[in-house]
Amino acid sequence: MRETANEPFVYNAWYIAAWPEEIEKGLVSRTIMNEPLVLFRGPDGKVAALEDRCCHRGAPLSHGTLTDGRLQCGYHGLVFDGAGKCVEIPGQTSIPPHTRVRSYPIVERQQIVWIWMGDPSKADESKILDYPVHDQPEKWPHKKATFVIKANYMMMIDNLMDLSHLAYVHRKTIGGSPEAHATAENSVEETETGCLYQRWMMNSPAPPTYVKAVGFKGRIDRWHRFEYVAPSTVIQNNGAIDAGKGARENQNQPGLQFELIHHATPETETSFHYFFSVANGYRQDDPAATEQLFNETYPTFLEDKVIMEGQQARIDRDPHRDLIPIMGDKALFTARRALKKMIDAERSSFGTVAAHRA
Ligand code: FES
Ligand SMILES: [Fe+2]
Repeated sequence: MRETANEPFVYNAWYIAAWPEEIEKGLVSRTIMNEPLVLFRGPDGKVAALEDRCCHRGAPLSHGTLTDGRLQCGYHGLVFDGAGKCVEIPGQTSIPPHTRVRSYPIVERQQIVWIWMGDPSKADESKILDYPVHDQPEKWPHKKATFVIKANYMMMIDNLMDLSHLAYVHRKTIGGSPEAHATAENSVEETETGCLYQRWMMNSPAPPTYVKAVGFKGRIDRWHRFEYVAPSTVIQNNGAIDAGKGARENQNQPGLQFELIHHATPETETSFHYFFSVANGYRQDDPAATEQLFNETYPTFLEDKVIMEGQQARIDRDPHRDLIPIMGDKALFTARRALKKMIDAERSSFGTVAAHRA
């Protein structure tokens, strides 16, 4: 089979559905894996995810209103609880038991709202990714965001698994000189859940974002550690210390360090919700430093968005046309292999991926 840049979905996995603070603002309408959903906080304070389609006449429930944690359809007023059960039909005393909409397993943990779109009987909470950075706001003050990128979700993993793009796409922010990137030392290893991609740039010039953050005066030893956890997460740890101070041996010395979680939740085959949280590990007691790091990071990711959306638009014209690999693609292919393993395992365990959803 020929390679295609667009990967199918893995259903049996936990995905980020939202940041909790989005849900505090009210109903969130969000399509995940082609399924329109409505997210809200139910009467017990738990986050609920229901299909965004009223079982009466199909109106989007996200057009309705939320009262005391119950969702009232904005068309004829049916009321639903967080499990999707209809609890009120205006003008009618009995509620037939099948008057309900589909609900999805949700777990809120470590300031992340996780959703399971696959077979509910396989939704094992112990498989949710642990992200202890969010448990330590003093050590890792952080800020989060989300936006949609119109590209297959694996474009984001490709992007993070090849850091040579920093020199070209992010020259003005986190990039640095193309020469320093071209001679960086890269290593890639498979892990049980994906792969680990590490990169060292020894004795390299400090990029503008790093200088702004901690005022590097000269050259730096700089590391990037990217762990891909299939299907959709990348945990990133980056840092730099003045050149020649033994950064490889000890990364916990004065310098710069920050950590991110990146997550790509498929919206459609050719779009995804990009979630990221960036944590400041260098001037933790200075809220302005966290804000500044976020304000540098956000536009950097918008630079990636432009590239990925451009790529997708070109690839869509002929999705099966060959893409030519280069040496720098090693981590990208290792990540895609890990994803393929998951896709194959899921297909062989269900027969057809969508069977349980009929
Ligand atoms: S369509 Fe929702 S109450 Fe009629
Ligand atoms: Fe990038």
